[in-house]
Amino acid sequence: GLQRRVDSLLGEFLSRKPVNRGSFSEISFTSSSSNGSLNTNEDGLLETPEPRRPASSVMEKILLRRSLQLRNQQQAWQESPEGQKMIDFRNSLPSYKERDVLLRAISDNQVIVVSGETGCGKTTQLPQYILESEIDATRGALCSIICTQPRRISAMSVSERVAAERGEQLGESVGYKVRLEGIKGRDTRLLFCTTGVLLRRLLVDRDLRGVTHVIVDEIHERGMNEDFLLIVLRDLLPRRPELRLILMSATLNAELFSSYFSGAPMMHIPGFTHPVRAHFLEDIVETTGYRLTPYNQVDDYGQEKMWKMQRQALRKRKSQIASSVEDALEAANFDKYSLRTRESLACWNPDSIGFNLIENVLCHICRNGRPGAVLVFMTGWDDINSLKEQLQAHPLLGDPSRVLVLACHGSMASSEQRLIFNKPEEGVRKIVLATNMAETSITINDVVFVVDCGKAKETSYDALNNTPCLLPSWISKASARQRRGRAGRVQPGECYHLYPRCVYDAFAEYQLPELLRTPLQSLCLQIKSLQLGSISEFLSRALQSPELLSVQNAIEYLKVIGALDEKENLTILGRHLSMLPVEPKLGKMLILGAIFNCLDPILTVVAGLSVRDPFLMPFDKKDLAESAKSQFAGKYYSDHLALVRAYEGWKDSEREGSGYDYCWKNFLSAQTLKAIDSLRKQFLVLLRDTGLLDDSTSDLLSHDEHLVRAVICGGLYPGVSSVVNKGKSISTKTMEDGQVLLYANSVNAREQRIPYPWLVFNEKVKVHAVFLRDSTAISDSMLLLFGGNLSQGGLDGHLKMLGGYLEFFMKPALADTYTKLKRELEELIQKK
Ligand code: CDP
Ligand code: MG
Repeated sequence: GLQRRVDSLLGEFLSRKPVNRGSFSEISFTSSSSNGSLNTNEDGLLETPEPRRPASSVMEKILLRRSLQLRNQQQAWQESPEGQKMIDFRNSLPSYKERDVLLRAISDNQVIVVSGETGCGKTTQLPQYILESEIDATRGALCSIICTQPRRISAMSVSERVAAERGEQLGESVGYKVRLEGIKGRDTRLLFCTTGVLLRRLLVDRDLRGVTHVIVDEIHERGMNEDFLLIVLRDLLPRRPELRLILMSATLNAELFSSYFSGAPMMHIPGFTHPVRAHFLEDIVETTGYRLTPYNQVDDYGQEKMWKMQRQALRKRKSQIASSVEDALEAANFDKYSLRTRESLACWNPDSIGFNLIENVLCHICRNGRPGAVLVFMTGWDDINSLKEQLQAHPLLGDPSRVLVLACHGSMASSEQRLIFNKPEEGVRKIVLATNMAETSITINDVVFVVDCGKAKETSYDALNNTPCLLPSWISKASARQRRGRAGRVQPGECYHLYPRCVYDAFAEYQLPELLRTPLQSLCLQIKSLQLGSISEFLSRALQSPELLSVQNAIEYLKVIGALDEKENLTILGRHLSMLPVEPKLGKMLILGAIFNCLDPILTVVAGLSVRDPFLMPFDKKDLAESAKSQFAGKYYSDHLALVRAYEGWKDSEREGSGYDYCWKNFLSAQTLKAIDSLRKQFLVLLRDTGLLDDSTSDLLSHDEHLVRAVICGGLYPGVSSVVNKGKSISTKTMEDGQVLLYANSVNAREQRIPYPWLVFNEKVKVHAVFLRDSTAISDSMLLLFGGNLSQGGLDGHLKMLGGYLEFFMKPALADTYTKLKRELEELIQKK
């Protein structure tokens, strides 16, 4: 049955070309599920700009009238009492003193680089200065300013702030666009968007027609999108001599960017922060009386085992930092604080040691500190949420109604975002637990205390084994300084670094750019769809170019999944994939789900993989939680199908109004399920735009579990491992890594036997061994029919490759099936 469907549907699929209906969304470059935050794929919609029409005199008159209107509006606001108050505030910001110098530099130079302490008014003021001066010069209707932000939350909050400063609603002269969301009106002249949104726009509008100013913010973060955008913009500048490019950065490493743009002028906005006193671990131990425990005694959270694993992993990682930190620690004789030096530092995980330590420091602040908000930097969403729970009823923090604990990370709801910026009532202590996103791009005004755990989750990429790794790593000196600076916004502040000073001294100056430490598949696809020529040639022009091997791996992957042909040209599938704001594998899964009429469960799987796992695994109730998950998995042998069932059950309970009970009973995160729900809807909109979706049939086969399994395989291939059932245990291996382990949270890890020969997996992560995260068991025929490159017509290559696979895993029993299927497939091709 499957083969017939493949045949008929594929033919149809190939004949369809992507349609661009003018709305599209941004690309996401980072891997999805692992770090569990939506900021990994910040996307948005941007309309194609209206092409400049030939200037007819009628048109000119309309534009002039509009510009005059804009000027009158602006003046009216500036003369109103509220407007005056706002102007007073704005003029008190350090950037105001530089306003005229900056504006002149912008008009005299095509590119400038602006640096200045966080909070000095780069993001909210500079774009506004440009807008105001254009409006004052009655060019308001002609200008179009785009300011990019690395994260969606900052694009949203900044645009809201700027609109308020101009006495307007969002969508008048100021708007924003992030993935699938945005407020933008006919008269929007200043648009804040994520970097990916601008990249998306370049896809259909290579010259950015009509845009007068591009401002790239937070370039010091060296995100992949930003580095990529800079290459594209550098090529664009000669074609658009009147276009202005402004690069903004919080730290003073402007030279690098200036020289990249052949010596563009650098402007610095002098600082404005109050002094912040730094307390390192040794000081903290002294002032709080906290006793550090050697690692082997720290198992308050049952994490001893984790620690051991991490220690091994870190040892293996032979990271330069770790070893120099060890040396530094030894030199400082850190032993005197009963934290065993070398050993314990290597396994020192601020998340677990920090939990205790962070609580202690927070209690110290609440009891002895002056009023003022506390900002705690942690590594990830999970830790933030569990610490938040612990703090909410913490006896030592005092009266719970006087403490407001908030979480701040990329995937929080907008209502929660607002709470973070608001000043709490008199006498209430606001404690914000944040990931490193609070480092530069958002400003919480009332912060007086900062607690810095010293680490951030960083994706890295092992090009040799083609395996992504995700580990909390030490931050850079630049980041630590940045975190500290957050305490000095309104008055002198205090910063508690939860590591010794000698560790700080051993930090690297700056973090490695993302381009050099992540897989490049999405990026390469984008280079192709933007028609930027040869991938490796293009990437060699980056600020810092990635390793050749990483580039080759990515290209190879794109060929294997059929997004590129042998000559590295984009295939039709590749074009479709480049339009979807998800990783190529998830995009392919969506497309296959649409073509094979089983879209509903596939939407859930893809949304789940792009958000994070909704199954909660609390340490103390692990068994209960695991068996709850197993119930959903039934005998599917699939984490993905377990997710589908859990989601469907939740939807049913929601309809009956018992959604929360359902989540509570089944150890599910309601918040995550809601996020999945909304993402599903967004994907549906996107798929309609591809033209591949036929709404009347898209769910005809959704109940067919085997088909759904096969489509999951189609997306995740070549993420395949073979299964060997040995007595009561299972062993799995992949071609590149040999023996691999199943992640403990996977339903398949608890099976004693899996009656399928293969597992397809979404992600493998190298910790101390290679672990497969979510997996789904599949049969031979699913792998043969859906694995790889069918949509290419390159069936021969596909079969050869699969043949290689089967040989490698030495499954002679398969040979028969294989030969039979091969014959059938060949017949199919001949018939075509
Ligand atoms: O970009 P940069 O870090 O230089 O500063 P900004 O984001 O433009 O913020 C400038 C000032 O605006 C901050 O110091 C805050 O006082 C204020 N601001 C605010 O009150 N509310 C916001 N949502 C953003 C900024
Ligand atoms: Mg800023």
